[in-house]
Amino acid sequence: MTDVAGKTAFITGGASGLGFATATALASKGTRTILADIDADRVEDAAARLRGSGGDAIGIQLDVTSEASWAAAGEKAHAFGDVRILFSNAGVGGGSGPFEQYDTDVWRWNYAVNAHAHLYACRTFLADMKASGEPSHLVITSSMVAIVPPPISVAYISSKYATLGIAMALRNELAGSCVDISVLMPGMTATRIVETTRDLRPAQVEAGQAATTSQAMQGVLAGGMAPDKVGARVVQAIEAGDYWIFTHPEWKAMAELVTQDMLAAFGPSADPAYRGDDIDGLIAANGGRMFGAKV
Ligand SMILES: NC(=O)c1ccc[n+]([C@@H]2O[C@H](COP(=O)([O-])OP(=O)(O)OC[C@H]3O[C@@H](n4cnc5c(N)ncnc54)[C@H](O)[C@@H]3O)[C@@H](O)[C@H]2O)c1
Repeated sequence: MTDVAGKTAFITGGASGLGFATATALASKGTRTILADIDADRVEDAAARLRGSGGDAIGIQLDVTSEASWAAAGEKAHAFGDVRILFSNAGVGGGSGPFEQYDTDVWRWNYAVNAHAHLYACRTFLADMKASGEPSHLVITSSMVAIVPPPISVAYISSKYATLGIAMALRNELAGSCVDISVLMPGMTATRIVETTRDLRPAQVEAGQAATTSQAMQGVLAGGMAPDKVGARVVQAIEAGDYWIFTHPEWKAMAELVTQDMLAAFGPSADPAYRGDDIDGLIAANGGRMFGAKV
């Protein structure tokens, strides 16, 4: 459980959408916020808005895919305060169209922003958060699509599964430390993500059916939940020490179907003579923690 008042938070993708909404909710509770985003103008404007409403905030330009950019951002952040809340949230949509026709650069970019960047975020701040001994919190943004995958971009869905995997594994690793962890699993939220993706994608603009899909997604997301509601829920989770952050319960029935489908596929062992995996031994060999708890 982390009291957010007076703490310093570092938020990637902080210029817009869920990042900015969470920063606003944190600032209203007295958290000092560092907004980090690839869009220099927008992040400066966002920080100015927080300051305008009485918050203590700075904006930093950061490309979450660049180690050099993280090193520079880390220095600026340390000069502002000791980061005790880290929200690794920046993300972009993937390509559309059949998987076998994906642009390689778009595929790599999707994983770099949505999944690989969590390593750089943790490398920059996590050791210090752990060593502080102070209640601290890491939040990582995955997506509802990492549990119930709708028929959208393979790159986006799979990079969000990777992100969920990173959070699940870190949950074990951080158990017993002063750093709590949450994984944010939002459903549709009315943010700029489709425009952001169009502006930043490293290949030429999508054409044909892919462009139509992207346009349709913009319309679908426009009717999504207001980001400030999700931001308020993230802050609640930080304060309460919740691991899972589900904001859209209408997906629960589908999540049950996915889980039932998987469990129903368990049958007899492929080797009836095998004694079965020594799962307790595996856990003990790795520090004895699973699902964040000592087992
Ligand atoms: N909007 C939704 O419906 C939805 C649903 C589930 C999960 N998410 C996730 O929420 C997170 C936030 O997205 P959002 O919906 O608020 O979109 P958004 O576009 O409003 O905000 C994302 C921010 O990330 C920044 N960004 C993109 N690439 C970056 C990079 N390389 N380095 C630094 N900053 C970068 C963008 O400039 C933008 O300000 C993403 O991880 C997204 O996948 C969104």
